[in-house]
Amino acid sequence: MVLQQVFGEMALPRPVIVGMQKGIMSWSYRGRPTWKCPMDLAIYGQILWELRPRTVLEFGSNRGGSALWFADQLTAFGVEDFKIYSLDISPVNDLEDSRIVFGFCDVADPAAHIGLADLRALPKPLLVIDDASHMAGHVLAVLRFVDQAMQSGDYLIVEDGSLVELGWADEYDGGPLAALQVFLAERGDDYKVDRNRCDTFGHNVTWNPEGYLKRV
Ligand SMILES: C[S@@+](CC[C@H](N)C(=O)[O-])C[C@H]1O[C@@H](n2cnc3c(N)ncnc32)[C@H](O)[C@@H]1O
Repeated sequence: MVLQQVFGEMALPRPVIVGMQKGIMSWSYRGRPTWKCPMDLAIYGQILWELRPRTVLEFGSNRGGSALWFADQLTAFGVEDFKIYSLDISPVNDLEDSRIVFGFCDVADPAAHIGLADLRALPKPLLVIDDASHMAGHVLAVLRFVDQAMQSGDYLIVEDGSLVELGWADEYDGGPLAALQVFLAERGDDYKVDRNRCDTFGHNVTWNPEGYLKRV
Protein backbone atom coordinates (compact mmCIF):
# COMPACT_ATOMS: atom_id res chain seq x y z
CA MET A 1 0.00 0.00 0.00
CA VAL A 2 1.33 3.46 -0.89
CA LEU A 3 0.50 6.04 1.76
CA GLN A 4 -0.28 9.50 0.45
CA GLN A 5 2.40 11.98 1.39
CA VAL A 6 1.13 14.85 3.53
CA PHE A 7 1.97 18.24 2.00
CA GLY A 8 5.01 19.61 3.80
CA GLU A 9 5.74 16.52 5.85
CA MET A 10 9.45 16.24 6.65
CA ALA A 11 11.31 12.93 6.78
CA LEU A 12 12.87 13.83 10.11
CA PRO A 13 11.70 12.79 13.57
CA ARG A 14 10.22 15.66 15.57
CA PRO A 15 12.87 15.57 18.35
CA VAL A 16 15.53 16.06 15.65
CA ILE A 17 13.60 19.00 14.17
CA VAL A 18 13.22 20.61 17.60
CA GLY A 19 16.91 20.10 18.38
CA MET A 20 18.04 21.45 15.03
CA GLN A 21 15.83 24.51 15.40
CA LYS A 22 17.85 25.49 18.49
CA GLY A 23 21.06 25.16 16.51
CA ILE A 24 19.70 27.19 13.59
CA MET A 25 18.71 30.03 15.92
CA SER A 26 22.18 30.11 17.45
CA TRP A 27 24.23 29.77 14.24
CA SER A 28 26.14 32.76 12.93
CA TYR A 29 28.06 33.69 9.79
CA ARG A 30 30.89 36.21 10.01
CA GLY A 31 29.65 37.12 13.47
CA ARG A 32 26.03 37.73 12.42
CA PRO A 33 23.09 35.56 13.42
CA THR A 34 22.08 33.62 10.29
CA TRP A 35 18.98 31.50 10.60
CA LYS A 36 19.58 28.80 8.03
CA CYS A 37 19.81 25.06 8.53
CA PRO A 38 22.88 23.26 7.18
CA MET A 39 20.86 21.43 4.53
CA ASP A 40 19.46 24.69 3.20
CA LEU A 41 22.90 26.30 3.10
CA ALA A 42 23.96 23.37 0.91
CA ILE A 43 20.81 23.57 -1.28
CA TYR A 44 21.11 27.34 -1.65
CA GLY A 45 24.76 26.90 -2.59
CA GLN A 46 23.80 24.73 -5.53
CA ILE A 47 21.05 27.09 -6.67
CA LEU A 48 23.40 30.08 -6.52
CA TRP A 49 26.04 28.19 -8.49
CA GLU A 50 23.63 27.00 -11.18
CA LEU A 51 21.33 30.03 -11.44
CA ARG A 52 24.05 32.68 -11.06
CA PRO A 53 21.40 35.28 -10.17
CA ARG A 54 21.99 38.91 -10.98
CA THR A 55 19.40 39.83 -8.36
CA VAL A 56 18.63 38.26 -5.01
CA LEU A 57 15.51 39.75 -3.43
CA GLU A 58 15.20 38.70 0.20
CA PHE A 59 12.21 39.55 2.39
CA GLY A 60 13.32 39.24 6.03
CA SER A 61 16.86 40.35 6.83
CA ASN A 62 17.12 39.85 10.59
CA ARG A 63 20.74 41.01 11.20
CA GLY A 64 21.86 40.69 7.58
CA GLY A 65 23.69 37.39 8.01
CA SER A 66 21.90 35.60 5.19
CA ALA A 67 22.34 38.54 2.79
CA LEU A 68 26.06 38.57 3.58
CA TRP A 69 26.29 34.81 3.04
CA PHE A 70 24.49 35.07 -0.33
CA ALA A 71 26.83 37.88 -1.40
CA ASP A 72 29.96 35.98 -0.34
CA GLN A 73 28.82 32.81 -2.08
CA LEU A 74 28.16 34.63 -5.34
CA THR A 75 31.50 36.41 -5.13
CA ALA A 76 33.27 33.09 -4.48
CA PHE A 77 31.47 31.63 -7.52
CA GLY A 78 32.82 34.40 -9.74
CA VAL A 79 29.47 36.18 -10.24
CA GLU A 80 30.40 39.83 -10.48
CA ASP A 81 27.40 41.80 -11.65
CA PHE A 82 24.82 41.09 -8.95
CA LYS A 83 22.91 42.90 -6.21
CA ILE A 84 21.27 41.60 -3.06
CA TYR A 85 18.17 43.51 -1.92
CA SER A 86 17.34 42.53 1.65
CA LEU A 87 14.15 44.12 2.97
CA ASP A 88 12.65 44.09 6.44
CA ILE A 89 10.14 45.92 8.59
CA SER A 90 13.16 46.72 10.75
CA PRO A 91 15.96 47.25 8.21
CA VAL A 92 19.60 46.43 8.93
CA ASN A 93 21.51 49.66 9.59
CA ASP A 94 24.87 48.46 10.87
CA LEU A 95 26.30 46.66 7.83
CA GLU A 96 27.85 48.43 4.84
CA ASP A 97 28.54 46.28 1.81
CA SER A 98 28.50 47.54 -1.76
CA ARG A 99 26.91 44.27 -2.94
CA ILE A 100 23.91 44.57 -0.61
CA VAL A 101 21.06 47.08 -0.33
CA PHE A 102 19.13 46.88 2.93
CA GLY A 103 15.73 48.55 2.97
CA PHE A 104 12.23 48.75 4.37
CA CYS A 105 9.27 46.64 3.35
CA ASP A 106 6.24 45.46 5.30
CA VAL A 107 5.27 42.13 3.74
CA ALA A 108 1.65 42.70 4.73
CA ASP A 109 1.49 44.78 1.54
CA PRO A 110 4.69 44.59 -0.54
CA ALA A 111 3.13 46.60 -3.38
CA ALA A 112 2.86 49.59 -1.06
CA HIS A 113 6.65 49.71 -0.72
CA ILE A 114 8.02 48.40 -4.01
CA GLY A 115 6.95 49.77 -7.37
CA LEU A 116 5.85 47.14 -9.85
CA ALA A 117 7.95 48.74 -12.58
CA ASP A 118 11.01 48.63 -10.28
CA LEU A 119 10.32 44.99 -9.45
CA ARG A 120 10.01 44.09 -13.12
CA ALA A 121 13.18 46.00 -13.97
CA LEU A 122 15.37 43.94 -11.63
CA PRO A 123 18.12 42.23 -13.65
CA LYS A 124 17.54 38.52 -14.24
CA PRO A 125 18.08 35.75 -13.33
CA LEU A 126 16.12 36.45 -10.17
CA LEU A 127 16.21 34.61 -6.86
CA VAL A 128 13.44 35.64 -4.46
CA ILE A 129 13.32 34.51 -0.85
CA ASP A 130 10.41 34.99 1.51
CA ASP A 131 11.83 34.75 5.03
CA ALA A 132 9.90 37.51 6.82
CA SER A 133 6.91 37.21 9.15
CA HIS A 134 5.85 33.70 8.01
CA MET A 135 2.18 34.64 8.51
CA ALA A 136 0.20 32.82 5.81
CA GLY A 137 -1.46 36.01 4.54
CA HIS A 138 1.86 37.85 4.35
CA VAL A 139 3.60 34.98 2.54
CA LEU A 140 0.77 34.84 0.03
CA ALA A 141 0.99 38.61 -0.48
CA VAL A 142 4.71 38.28 -1.28
CA LEU A 143 4.17 35.33 -3.64
CA ARG A 144 1.40 37.07 -5.57
CA PHE A 145 3.42 40.28 -5.78
CA VAL A 146 6.73 38.82 -6.98
CA ASP A 147 4.93 36.44 -9.35
CA GLN A 148 4.41 39.49 -11.58
CA ALA A 149 8.16 39.69 -12.24
CA MET A 150 9.28 36.07 -12.33
CA GLN A 151 10.62 34.66 -15.59
CA SER A 152 11.30 31.12 -16.71
CA GLY A 153 14.12 29.57 -14.68
CA ASP A 154 13.90 32.05 -11.77
CA TYR A 155 13.62 30.66 -8.23
CA LEU A 156 11.15 31.59 -5.52
CA ILE A 157 11.98 30.19 -2.10
CA VAL A 158 9.48 30.09 0.74
CA GLU A 159 11.23 29.65 4.05
CA ASP A 160 10.21 27.94 7.25
CA GLY A 161 7.30 25.71 6.32
CA SER A 162 9.01 23.63 9.03
CA LEU A 163 7.09 25.61 11.63
CA VAL A 164 4.14 23.25 11.07
CA GLU A 165 6.22 20.27 12.24
CA LEU A 166 7.42 22.42 15.14
CA GLY A 167 3.78 22.79 16.20
CA TRP A 168 3.56 26.54 15.61
CA ALA A 169 1.14 26.64 12.64
CA ASP A 170 -1.75 28.17 14.58
CA GLU A 171 0.34 31.19 15.58
CA TYR A 172 1.01 31.85 11.87
CA ASP A 173 -2.48 31.13 10.45
CA GLY A 174 -1.05 27.94 8.97
CA GLY A 175 2.23 29.62 8.01
CA PRO A 176 4.15 29.28 4.74
CA LEU A 177 2.71 25.88 3.84
CA ALA A 178 -0.86 27.21 3.92
CA ALA A 179 0.19 30.09 1.66
CA LEU A 180 2.00 27.72 -0.68
CA GLN A 181 -1.08 25.54 -1.08
CA VAL A 182 -3.20 28.54 -2.08
CA PHE A 183 -0.52 29.93 -4.39
CA LEU A 184 0.08 26.61 -6.12
CA ALA A 185 -3.67 26.14 -6.60
CA GLU A 186 -3.72 29.55 -8.31
CA ARG A 187 -0.44 29.48 -10.20
CA GLY A 188 0.74 25.87 -10.13
CA ASP A 189 0.78 25.64 -13.91
CA ASP A 190 3.64 28.13 -14.03
CA TYR A 191 5.65 26.93 -11.03
CA LYS A 192 6.97 23.56 -10.06
CA VAL A 193 8.03 22.55 -6.59
CA ASP A 194 11.62 21.59 -7.33
CA ARG A 195 11.76 18.15 -5.73
CA ASN A 196 15.47 17.82 -6.49
CA ARG A 197 16.04 20.72 -4.06
CA CYS A 198 13.43 19.87 -1.44
CA ASP A 199 14.47 16.21 -1.34
CA THR A 200 18.27 16.48 -1.74
CA PHE A 201 18.81 14.96 1.70
CA GLY A 202 15.54 12.99 2.00
CA HIS A 203 11.90 13.94 1.57
CA ASN A 204 11.61 17.59 2.63
CA VAL A 205 14.75 17.36 4.75
CA THR A 206 14.99 21.14 4.67
CA TRP A 207 13.54 23.96 6.76
CA ASN A 208 11.67 24.95 3.58
CA PRO A 209 9.48 21.91 2.82
CA GLU A 210 7.78 22.30 -0.58
CA GLY A 211 9.41 25.73 -0.55
CA TYR A 212 11.81 25.60 -3.50
CA LEU A 213 9.71 26.85 -6.43
CA LYS A 214 11.05 27.18 -9.94
CA ARG A 215 9.29 29.36 -12.52
CA VAL A 216 8.51 27.10 -15.46
C1 LIG B 1 13.42 34.70 10.16
S1 LIG B 1 13.98 36.37 10.28
C2 LIG B 1 14.97 36.54 8.84
C3 LIG B 1 16.20 35.69 8.92
C4 LIG B 1 17.26 35.95 7.90
N1 LIG B 1 16.79 35.89 6.54
C5 LIG B 1 18.35 34.93 8.09
O1 LIG B 1 18.33 33.89 7.38
O2 LIG B 1 19.20 35.14 8.96
C6 LIG B 1 12.50 37.21 9.97
C7 LIG B 1 12.59 38.71 9.78
O3 LIG B 1 11.32 39.14 9.30
C8 LIG B 1 11.09 40.44 9.78
N2 LIG B 1 9.65 40.73 9.73
C9 LIG B 1 8.69 40.38 10.61
N3 LIG B 1 7.50 40.85 10.21
C10 LIG B 1 7.72 41.51 9.05
C11 LIG B 1 6.88 42.23 8.14
N4 LIG B 1 5.56 42.37 8.37
N5 LIG B 1 7.44 42.77 7.04
C12 LIG B 1 8.78 42.62 6.80
N6 LIG B 1 9.62 41.98 7.62
C13 LIG B 1 9.09 41.43 8.74
C14 LIG B 1 11.68 40.47 11.17
O4 LIG B 1 12.00 41.80 11.54
C15 LIG B 1 12.89 39.55 11.02
O5 LIG B 1 14.05 40.30 10.81
